[in-house]
Amino acid sequence: MVIKNVSLDIVCGVTSTLPENDRPEIAFAGKSNVGKSSLINALMNRKALARTSSQPGKTQTINFYNVNESMYLVDLPGYGYAKVSQAEKEKWGHLIERYLHGSKMLKAVFLLIDIRHEPSKNDKTMYEWIRYNGYQPIIIATKLDKLKRSQIQKHIKMLRQGLELVPGTQIIPFSSATKQGRDEIWELMDSILEE
Ligand code: GTP
Ligand code: MG
Repeated sequence: MVIKNVSLDIVCGVTSTLPENDRPEIAFAGKSNVGKSSLINALMNRKALARTSSQPGKTQTINFYNVNESMYLVDLPGYGYAKVSQAEKEKWGHLIERYLHGSKMLKAVFLLIDIRHEPSKNDKTMYEWIRYNGYQPIIIATKLDKLKRSQIQKHIKMLRQGLELVPGTQIIPFSSATKQGRDEIWELMDSILEE
């Protein structure tokens, strides 16, 4: 897709009513600090439209980015952020669940996992949760630039086994620092949007 214009159109917090969009949505889930907002910026060719931070827990709302008035990239709040209360975590969990369960225009869910680390219990739960809602998550292995090239295949295998991925599940390695993987993600999104 050629990006002509992008804007942050809708922001939903825990008490918000979720929008009833008539354009397709593609959502990005993953633990706090994994690089969701950075990926969305890279996909939109913007440096900082989606706010990023080295402090985990930056995105606390569901943010809908309008791309070319034709689709939305949806930035979900990160899970697993230790510094918020259990009650807060439950509220975010409920918000994500409401969205996954309720959106009529959600076409695909990408689950981001840091390529360097074993998937956590929360990552596994999120993977199952997405599947339970009827989606086949596509895995994006983030922060590729932090890994030696010789380690990549081993780590992809670690993610596949750790998450117990359904055979055939795609894993796309990506770096928002080098933009490696960006074109592949757009190709996949273009094909999803054409369906
Ligand atoms: P929350 O909003 O807290 O859920 O986090 P997030 O998943 O949106 O992460 P964000 O994009 O804000 O990135 C977190 C930190 O990781 C920032 O300091 C980013 O610069 C850094 N980061 C993200 N992606 C990459 C990457 O591919 N490579 C490197 N080296 N750093 C990255
Ligand atoms: Mg974020």
